Amino acid sequence: MSKIFPPPAPPVPPPHPPPMGLIAELTHRCPLQCPYCSNPLALDPVASELPSEVWLRVIDEAAAMGVLQIHFTGGEPLARRDLAGLVYRAAKGGIYTNIITSGVTLDDRAMAALKDAGIDHIQLSFQDIDPTENDRIGGYKGAFAKKRAAADRIRGAGLPLTLNFVIQRHNAGRVAEMLAFAELLQAERVEIAHVQYYGWGLKNRAALLPTRAQLEDSTNVVEAARERLRGKMVIDYVVPDYHAARPKSCMGGWAQRFINISPAGKALPCHAAESLPGFDFPNVRDVSLAQVWESEAFRRYRGTGWMPEPCRSCDRRELDWGGCRCQAFAILGDAGLTDPACELSPQHYLMAEAAAESAAPAPAFVYRRLGVLVS
Ligand code: SF4
Ligand code: FES
Repeated sequence: MSKIFPPPAPPVPPPHPPPMGLIAELTHRCPLQCPYCSNPLALDPVASELPSEVWLRVIDEAAAMGVLQIHFTGGEPLARRDLAGLVYRAAKGGIYTNIITSGVTLDDRAMAALKDAGIDHIQLSFQDIDPTENDRIGGYKGAFAKKRAAADRIRGAGLPLTLNFVIQRHNAGRVAEMLAFAELLQAERVEIAHVQYYGWGLKNRAALLPTRAQLEDSTNVVEAARERLRGKMVIDYVVPDYHAARPKSCMGGWAQRFINISPAGKALPCHAAESLPGFDFPNVRDVSLAQVWESEAFRRYRGTGWMPEPCRSCDRRELDWGGCRCQAFAILGDAGLTDPACELSPQHYLMAEAAAESAAPAPAFVYRRLGVLVS
């Protein structure tokens, strides 16, 4: 009599090394209304935000997992009254703490509370170097002056200063002035970051995308400044995918290095993943951070096993990890395809077609506002 043996159990994959960073999107509330915000179009309402005790538990779990850095962001993280307490808990757990802020509400009191809590770093964003344009793009009159004052407070607190300028077709010609301003403030670091087209940025793409000539000019300015300021100031430069030949390594690969938590507690491999259908992203109200890291949603596009051609046999597959899953979905409707920013993708021509929009007159901005879509 023949015996029937059950098929062997599939091998259990070894646990993935712990995440390097936690991106804590504390709130979608923000005094600014930037039309390129990477937050989703459906912003989380205040009532859905995680309470302090859940954030504190998540921070403790991150410390226990060996997470090295936490980035408090939003929206505007300073809109949360418990921000200093969260920073304190993370610092106490040995995690490097960073806040990404518009700076308009960073007054003396907020700065002192963050300093006392042990904040390591503050990244201050600007919409433009021209004050009038800065305020128009952010939809907040007087924002530039408040940001300028916030830069002085950060300096006064003895913290390193990182400025972030977001580049798009309306300000791409002023990169040299932005760098001169950063030099004047003796910033340690400046980010010249072209808009990334997700969320509100994707919605406003026709109003924001620079021409290839604008991109090349800004690249030349950055390269010359890097040469001149070597050893004095670090310049990070992020380019738009639409004029690229190869994609960026988005988030260092899907669920390879970061966990992003939305204001309502959804755990995501990146800020835009909520736009992807067919996922059941875990919520930190229900599960631990360690469970998030090994969840099906995080494992789905981790590594190289999911890759189709041309990525599967490409020698860059462990450098860019096939590009951005959210961009593949936004442009192709399938997150499991090669990022069309790659010129080896059979659909790369769609990026070139979209880039052609940059030569047409810019439509009006659709400003980011909580709960409403307005021009
Ligand atoms: Fe990257 Fe895939 Fe393009 Fe190769 S084919 S460069 S792995 S996106
Ligand atoms: Fe989601 Fe790139 S933004 S994978």
